[in-house]
Amino acid sequence: MNILVTGGLGYIGSHTCVKLIEAGYNPIIIDNLYNSKKSVLQRIKQITSFTPQFYYGDICDKPFVDSIFKKHDFTAVIHFAGLKAVGESVIKPLEYYEKNVYGSICLAQVMRDNNVKNLIFSSSATVYGEKNPVPYVESYPTGNITNPYGWSKFMVEQSYIDLSNAEKEWSISLLRYFNPVGAHPSGLMGEDPQGIPNNLMPYISQVAIGKREKLSVYGNDYPTKDGTGVRDYIRVEDLAIGHVAALKQINKSGIHIYNLGSGIGNSVLEVIAAYEKACGHKLAYQIVERRAGDIAAFWADASRAKQELDWQTQYTLDEMAKDSWNWQMKNPNGYPNE
Ligand code: NAD
Ligand code: UD1
Repeated sequence: MNILVTGGLGYIGSHTCVKLIEAGYNPIIIDNLYNSKKSVLQRIKQITSFTPQFYYGDICDKPFVDSIFKKHDFTAVIHFAGLKAVGESVIKPLEYYEKNVYGSICLAQVMRDNNVKNLIFSSSATVYGEKNPVPYVESYPTGNITNPYGWSKFMVEQSYIDLSNAEKEWSISLLRYFNPVGAHPSGLMGEDPQGIPNNLMPYISQVAIGKREKLSVYGNDYPTKDGTGVRDYIRVEDLAIGHVAALKQINKSGIHIYNLGSGIGNSVLEVIAAYEKACGHKLAYQIVERRAGDIAAFWADASRAKQELDWQTQYTLDEMAKDSWNWQMKNPNGYPNE
């Protein structure tokens, strides 16, 4: 079965391609290499002994995307392609709305033109905004978001909900990820941030390997177990398996919304401690001011995914830290250029 994977060379997309191949699917990738490298294909091959077909191009380029639908029969599309840096989205909102919102609409139009109506979309827990109590349940209201990246996910969700209301034969899954971390246990694939990492785990990895001097912990006066921010860290492998599980829904029309998280909240200090255990040495950090836009704590109620998709996370924070460190040690400069 052919599955089109947009953004399939990125962090989550590449891990999902591996799981798709292992489950017997044939992933076919579109990626514009904005935030990834072609050498990821070689790593997928090393893990699975199979090189997925790859098309270089942009999802906003409808004739290009259409030409790929004319070459292959797709059963479904898993749509990862997009921009994801929250801080950058505040500075470049139009680019975020173009690539994330317009790109997602172009993709759905080409799908409709080619009569492919099964779609799985990478959404985010960020759509819940600031005002909901934890744990987050799918039925909570969305909105009250503090940045254009989050709004772009909200807008795509709404466009796809409206599409599914208008055209009943679509099957669309909106997967709301919590905080993906970790790497493939082989150390062949992992997160390869360009420049200074924004997110916690990749920043800690660079402190552990000696690329950065120390971690800034953004606030220790939150109303949480130790005063630092609490999040639901989900191992990227578990997340990838969640996409294979969501393919089960493709014959069920309508909108399907799932939280993909572990259901467990861990603090920044707990993540540091887990990483210290993995790398075997202490990590330098200092407590600084809260980061603007952060909230104290959130984690998922992931019971719907368990009930309907028979999916739940398998891995602990210690294992996530161990895999991140393994990837960091084996690839101190990320993926090779070619
Ligand atoms: P990533 O940047 O590693 O992967 C995205 C991939 O899409 C990259 O390979 C990039 O080159 C490609 N791409 C970007 N714009 C494109 C375009 N217009 N046309 C074709 N390819 C394009 O990001 P990721 O962490 O793997 O995230 C995948 C998806 O999941 C994104 O939509 C992201 O917003 C969403 N998401 C990520 C997180 C996270 O923390 N990583 C959390 C929630 C949601
Ligand atoms: C961020 C995004 C969110 C996105 C999510 C995906 C922001 C404001 N939000 O969320 O939209 O869906 O990633 O993973 O960027 N921390 C530090 N020091 C650091 C980095 C982070 O103390 O150098 C803390 C943060 O304050 C937070 C926790 O670590 O408490 C996790 O931060 P991060 O990895 O950036 O993720 P989120 O803020 O949850």
